[in-house]
Amino acid sequence: MIRAALARRGERGSASHDTKISDADLVTETDVAVETMVRCRIATVFPDHLFVGEEGTGEPLNGCDRTGKFVWIVDPIDGTTNFVSTFPVVAVSIGFAYGDETIFGVVYNPMTDELWFAWKGCGAWMKKSNGEVVKIRTSGCETISSALISTGFAIPYFRRKTANVEAQKKLRSIIEQNTWTLMNSCRDIRRIGSAACDICYVAMGRTDTFYEFGIKEWDVAAALVILHEAGGDSSTVGGVKPYSIRGRNILAAASQKLRIALNQALVDKDVVQIIEEIEQ
Ligand code: IPD
Ligand code: CA
Repeated sequence: MIRAALARRGERGSASHDTKISDADLVTETDVAVETMVRCRIATVFPDHLFVGEEGTGEPLNGCDRTGKFVWIVDPIDGTTNFVSTFPVVAVSIGFAYGDETIFGVVYNPMTDELWFAWKGCGAWMKKSNGEVVKIRTSGCETISSALISTGFAIPYFRRKTANVEAQKKLRSIIEQNTWTLMNSCRDIRRIGSAACDICYVAMGRTDTFYEFGIKEWDVAAALVILHEAGGDSSTVGGVKPYSIRGRNILAAASQKLRIALNQALVDKDVVQIIEEIEQ
């Protein structure tokens, strides 16, 4: 469906899109169509399972207790800005959780025909565009100085006209501080544009770590199980809190040592409250 949309568009440039909460938060008719197709297929086979999708095509879960329930967590197109501009890093991301723990994840980039998948306890795998299926491991990188880092700058997504200006300034200052710290200490920094692909890249050793504030569960639920099965580690950005799939503050690293070094180097003070203030 995504490839067909791209083919229809040909070389015409940007796809038509609407915006959601800010002028940089895009949605296309393909996002909604893919989510509807995935939700309907899942509902046919597993009518009792819960469904959470970025475009909200399912029943709203509204704080529903997920304990003891199976939940599908889907981003139909992670990297919609890339999709709109035909920048070739986008993902269909499908996570399958029991309660709040993802036990299966699959991430597919239809533009490069790369697919990553993992079952908890069974390892992580990649199907390359030539059809070859290989087991993947992170790079094992342990130091910031040798790390190729990817991130998302969050600010465009929170650039709402009505937002609390003081909270926006605080978020900007945290992001600037972290960027400056890493600029002076890491190998280099990338902004790739799809959190699901960012984390799969860490899982396969294409990059060494990824961090971002403000992400949502559909951006990362599937990719995190792939990362952990590939030997990576995750937490909040600063401090030592384990990451929870409904958190808004994520650090994914190739090794525990690198994760701890980054926890110590980066700041995230009050970031979740700041994001909530912006979103109010
Ligand atoms: C976005 C992408 C992007 C990240 C944003 C996400 P979307 O997902 O993952 O890289 O910076 O935080 O919202 O909106 O394109 O599905
Ligand atoms: Ca999306």
